[in-house]
Amino acid sequence: MDEPKSSLLPTLLELLLLGAKDRPVEISTVELAAKIGKSQQAASKHLLELEKDGYLERMKAGSVTGVKLTPRGIDSVTGLYRVLKASLEGTPPTLEIKGEIFSGLGEGGYYVSHRGYRKQFVKKLGFDPYPGTLNVRLTSPVDRKLRGELEKLDGITIEGFEDGQRSYGGAKCFKALINGTAESAVITIERTHYDDSVLEILSPVKLRETLKLQDKSPVTVMVYLTSDETPKSGS
Ligand code: CDP
Repeated sequence: MDEPKSSLLPTLLELLLLGAKDRPVEISTVELAAKIGKSQQAASKHLLELEKDGYLERMKAGSVTGVKLTPRGIDSVTGLYRVLKASLEGTPPTLEIKGEIFSGLGEGGYYVSHRGYRKQFVKKLGFDPYPGTLNVRLTSPVDRKLRGELEKLDGITIEGFEDGQRSYGGAKCFKALINGTAESAVITIERTHYDDSVLEILSPVKLRETLKLQDKSPVTVMVYLTSDETPKSGS
């Protein structure tokens, strides 16, 4: 992108707001200085520099000077607009979270293999999970912050249910890849005894065996942020 020096951007944007894209606008250096919060000398220098670099042209008609953006000036603000729009609106499709393995209370297997959850995992994640969850402790604040971002997203919804004896809470899943190879899913549970420093992973295989992991092994979890469920034929 052809860009003017960043210190000149406020001036270029002010001129754009005044309509200098389509026609020459009249503005004194005193007025411009007030708008950009700089001295009159600085405002005057900005105009000279922008003109020298080909971002604007100045037209003098008697005592009045009109200022208009050149095609180069318009291109530079259009480029800036595109970059801003893409960065503000585009959701990155993946998120990388790092942590290390630890052992929990051994309850995961009971829940994961409960029919009420299991049939939803098979249908919505596209795999029959190993009965348990792999626990990943997030030690850095950055990784915990990233974990927090997942709470704000829709993900793949796993409905809560009752089995006649008790009720089971809902959960949210995101497809994921562990250490760049193992297909799996992150599960964030509504009623969990873990805080935001833990990520729980479901996978069709026992990851400790497949990836040769043990307590304290570092893992990288690439989380896919889309809420696409695995399409299943006949459902
Ligand atoms: O005892 P803990 O709560 O950590 O685990 P669990 O959910 O009962 O799972 C039983 C064991 O399988 C644990 O050692 C988990 O780390 C491991 N596991 C695994 O290696 N791969 C999975 N996909 C799920 C669990």
